[in-house]
Amino acid sequence: MRLTPRLRLEPISPRHAHELWLLHQDDHIATWYGGTWSRQTAADAARTWGQGWSEDRAGKWLAYQQDTGELVGRGGLSYTDVAGARRLEIGWAIRRPFQGQGYATEIGRAGLALAFDHLDAPDVIAFTERHNQRSQAVMRRLGMHYTGQILRPGLVEGHHQIQPEAPFVLYTVQRPDPPNGHAAT
Ligand SMILES: CC(C)(COP(=O)(O)OP(=O)(O)OC[C@H]1O[C@@H](n2cnc3c(N)ncnc32)[C@H](O)[C@@H]1OP(=O)(O)O)[C@@H](O)C(=O)NCCC(=O)NCCS
Repeated sequence: MRLTPRLRLEPISPRHAHELWLLHQDDHIATWYGGTWSRQTAADAARTWGQGWSEDRAGKWLAYQQDTGELVGRGGLSYTDVAGARRLEIGWAIRRPFQGQGYATEIGRAGLALAFDHLDAPDVIAFTERHNQRSQAVMRRLGMHYTGQILRPGLVEGHHQIQPEAPFVLYTVQRPDPPNGHAAT
């Protein structure tokens, strides 16, 4: 469990399958993840992300408002193959009533802190469909930079079905230099 200024972040494990399902009934989230999730899809994701925490020490959180306890969204880290390399990726999804309040960026900051302060990652990537401008705005707020385009299963602007080779933009942020300016040995 981790606290950010406004959120309580709980590492996702199989016991969160119901809340994950609930999150993916939100139309504004479902649009970007192949439609509303079934209970089975949510249970599979909860198990996979739970394994991420136990095997890689990197995983995704469910985010709750500290003051109300309401479920805000999810986000965090996972390892993903991109162009044949295993990369540490960060992502986020926020329920519609909580969008536009800086929560995705708050989760993103917690994810980058985990990556750089605890996992000693050299860099972190994020990617999203070329027309997902709101997600790219989060990447830029986190200090990430555009580093190219990749093709993955996803949405093509103007189509509602997942396409096998949709254009995604790739953003990257490097581990910051240590404050004293010397590389760690
Ligand atoms: C992508 C997504 C997570 C972005 O969420 P978001 O709420 O726009 O992003 P943030 O949490 O960073 O919020 C930023 C906005 O909150 C505003 N804000 C309000 N209070 C704030 C605060 N205290 N701190 C920071 N920002 C604040 C910012 O000004 C900004 O407003 P703007 O969008 O009008 O410029 C969201 O649109 C979403 O869940 N989409 C569906 C799922 C999805 O696409 N996921 C990504 C797949 S790759």
